[in-house]
Amino acid sequence: MFRSVLCIFALILRVSLAYEDKTIVQYLADNGYTSLSRNLQSQGLNTPLSGTGPFTIFAPTDAAFAKLGNKTFSSAQLTNILKYHVVTDYLIIPMIKTPSNLTTLEGQDLMVQPIPGTLLLNNASRVITGNNDIICNNGVVHPIDTVLVPPELPTYTIAQVLLNDSRFADLNIALLIAGMTNILQSGDFTLFAPVNTAFATYQGSVLSPETPNAIAIYQAVLKYHVTPGGRRATQLKNNQALFTLHGVNLNITVNNGVTVNSVARVIDSDILCSNGIIHAVDHLLIPPDINQVASGNMP
Ligand SMILES: *[C@@H]1O[C@H](CO)[C@@H](O)[C@H](O)[C@H]1NC(C)=O
Ligand SMILES: *[C@@H]1O[C@H](CO)[C@@H](O)[C@H](O)[C@H]1NC(C)=O
Ligand SMILES: *[C@@H]1O[C@H](CO)[C@@H](O)[C@H](O)[C@H]1NC(C)=O
Ligand SMILES: *[C@@H]1O[C@H](CO)[C@@H](O)[C@H](O)[C@H]1NC(C)=O
Ligand SMILES: *[C@@H]1O[C@H](CO)[C@@H](O)[C@H](O)[C@H]1NC(C)=O
Repeated sequence: MFRSVLCIFALILRVSLAYEDKTIVQYLADNGYTSLSRNLQSQGLNTPLSGTGPFTIFAPTDAAFAKLGNKTFSSAQLTNILKYHVVTDYLIIPMIKTPSNLTTLEGQDLMVQPIPGTLLLNNASRVITGNNDIICNNGVVHPIDTVLVPPELPTYTIAQVLLNDSRFADLNIALLIAGMTNILQSGDFTLFAPVNTAFATYQGSVLSPETPNAIAIYQAVLKYHVTPGGRRATQLKNNQALFTLHGVNLNITVNNGVTVNSVARVIDSDILCSNGIIHAVDHLLIPPDINQVASGNMP
């Protein structure tokens, strides 16, 4: 199916296309994209990019990675950089006739501009001609000569950003009580961050530092707000279930904005951090098993 669509494109555009009956991930591994392959593997992107697609990957060569020199990135930053090279569509160079902005898997736009014989990306990187438009069975590979860095690549961690924002004063205190600030200094997470007014309802009831098992309760409640992997609001889907660090899923509703577990509305989305993304919510999320936690009867 994919192949026949591309054959039709090739006929219309009068270009010849190279076809490889393998996934883009396999093609990269087999064709000397050592740094890119290693990075995709280390960031857990091999599996999603081996899926049906279609994907277009602008693939930095080893020489492109070498140009980064000793520049280092956090794990979440590296994930964002890699996702910024992928568009969920099949794009062959002759299809791009005017400058345009493509939405990347990372979420931010990539500016592509046709220049004689090739494409210029973000005014910084070029598609290397001679071996581009590699059609694989789940997408297209274009080698590029410079690694693309998303326009916004945040440098502060989730923990640092929370400490710096007075809307999250109560959350910061709760994180201290739970001993959880360290968790939010690394990794790659999405945090649904309750603002101060969200805590008011539960202070002195569910959340009371004096109750027995207070630390376990604080940890359960706060871990229930954290899900592995940075997801922008646009990457949250209606009826999606998100695994949390507490081990019980959150339910997402997308309808005129994002709501979590039917109670907590996202009131400020996409606060980008070096280790993930914060979405501020107006209500605390209480895990369904909180009574078990409170009674100390957790397995
Ligand atoms: C990184 O490379 C630059 C230029 O090559 C050099 O000036 C700098 O000292 C290096 N930094 C580290 C931490 O190695
Ligand atoms: C792409 O986005 C940039 C930044 O928002 C904008 O300056 C530029 O005009 C856009 N280009 C096109 C072709 O839409
Ligand atoms: C692209 O680079 C050229 C030359 O350095 C510069 O004149 C132009 O303003 C740049 N365009 C954008 C959109 O950054
Ligand atoms: C704290 O907030 C100020 C003002 O918004 C900003 O300039 C600064 O970069 C922030 N620092 C951190 C660690 O987020
Ligand atoms: C989330 O959805 C699942 C499946 O519909 C349901 O079993 C669970 O109770 C829901 N959780 C909450 C907190 O609403």
